[in-house]
Amino acid sequence: MLHGKVKNSTLKESDRSMAPLYSRHAITGGVSRYDFPENEMLPQTAYNLVHDELMLDGNSRLNLATFVTTWMEPEARQLMAETFDKNMIDKDEYPQTAELEMRCVNMLARLWNSPDHEEAVGCSTIGSSEAAMLGGLALKWKWRERMKAANKQADRPNLVMGINVQVCWDKFCRYFDVEPRLVPIEGTRYHLTGEEAVKYCDENTIGVVAIMGSTFDGSYEPVKQINDALDALQKEKGWDIPIHVDGASGAFIAPFIQPDLEWDFRVPRVKSINTSGHKFGLVYPGVGWIVWRDKDALPEDLIFSVNYLGGEMPTFALSFSRPGSQVVAQYYNFLRLGRDGYRRVQQTCQDVALYLSREIAKLGPFELLTEGRDLPVFAFKLKEPTNFTVFDLSERLRDRGWILPAYTFPKNLEDLAVLRVVVRDGFSHDLANMLLDDLRRHVKFFASQPGYTPTYTGGGHSHGASSHQKRVPREPSSNGQRTVKATK
Ligand SMILES: Cc1ncc(COP(=O)(O)O)c(C=O)c1O
Repeated sequence: MLHGKVKNSTLKESDRSMAPLYSRHAITGGVSRYDFPENEMLPQTAYNLVHDELMLDGNSRLNLATFVTTWMEPEARQLMAETFDKNMIDKDEYPQTAELEMRCVNMLARLWNSPDHEEAVGCSTIGSSEAAMLGGLALKWKWRERMKAANKQADRPNLVMGINVQVCWDKFCRYFDVEPRLVPIEGTRYHLTGEEAVKYCDENTIGVVAIMGSTFDGSYEPVKQINDALDALQKEKGWDIPIHVDGASGAFIAPFIQPDLEWDFRVPRVKSINTSGHKFGLVYPGVGWIVWRDKDALPEDLIFSVNYLGGEMPTFALSFSRPGSQVVAQYYNFLRLGRDGYRRVQQTCQDVALYLSREIAKLGPFELLTEGRDLPVFAFKLKEPTNFTVFDLSERLRDRGWILPAYTFPKNLEDLAVLRVVVRDGFSHDLANMLLDDLRRHVKFFASQPGYTPTYTGGGHSHGASSHQKRVPREPSSNGQRTVKATK
């Protein structure tokens, strides 16, 4: 989030400073809010001040908007507290933390069916967004190599993806000067298909991004089908276009509860996969991962070396310093849960999601877009216009602390307004029943208020989904515009 400098001179004294009253502690006066306090205070007093401010934050366990982990076991928290001081980049000082990162990359490569004969490479990141930047950069570099080898111009790269992508992909395109080719959604098709993807590809396409699953409704994009459509396109046009899978959530779900679904390195065009360790990898924020199919998919040119125990350690990252504790916690989870434990956790999340979506459908006014069969995530809308909207419902649900985002879909389906539920580890059947009780209460309330005037904005945080509505349109440039017509 970007923050501006607050103009102190325009503020009332009461807004300029915090005025806690701890009559048994040292502070009874004001403490400057936007400027460095002149003097020290006791640790306990500072703790109380900060702690009390944070009481106004939402309760993270009731936050059904976020995909990010909000509960970990005490032992994991303890390990994290023991390793807060380790900087991930200092491989020299903390070689064992680096070793755990390496083991995690290996475990993920194998979880994603990396073939034995291929030398997968990968690293941890601060989250899927950084991993997406790295994946996108590798695609761009490889495409440039291909174009140079063919003696062709390499100045107009584009990336093909559904308009439903998370905002990190818009960022990648804007920051690294790649034309985003956002394939529209329409009707009841809420994500990318193979047939649509190839219509937007040409020889300047650095890759196609397939999402497992969509931030908007939790559905998986058909990676294998996209692969096959790109095979046919190569036969026809000669363009060899790779796939990057954005498995921010699904790369930790599909291997455990949909093991037969082919979306990973079993699919030949999949060159790289990213995931968020801090989503269904079950670690507190921020850790992400990216794995490339083979050394060959990651251009040497992007790799920097840091000294490591007298030797050289290759790194590929956008940031430098980063906490080691999340990587340690990821390794803890892998050891602690194993395949079976992850399967149990993810299956439980899906059971709760399917139960909750089924019961919500029975309430009357709602229709499901998804049920939670891919990710344990589902979206629902109002069957027909009535005296309240999903935005009103989202707002009223907050009265007991529930955070359910309400948002509209991107271009072509802007009139489709939904509520979305992300079921994560720690959201029990009991909590689901409590949410259902509250939904029933609110539906009853709206039914008893025929004069209620619906509102059409508000809602809540949709984890990068709604940002599409707020995106600044890209200036027309030599690199093209944000939306393009199909080329085929
Ligand atoms: C599909 C998808 N990709 C990328 C991201 C960004 O992930 P992160 O928050 O780990 O940077 C998200 C976040 O919700 C997502 O759902």
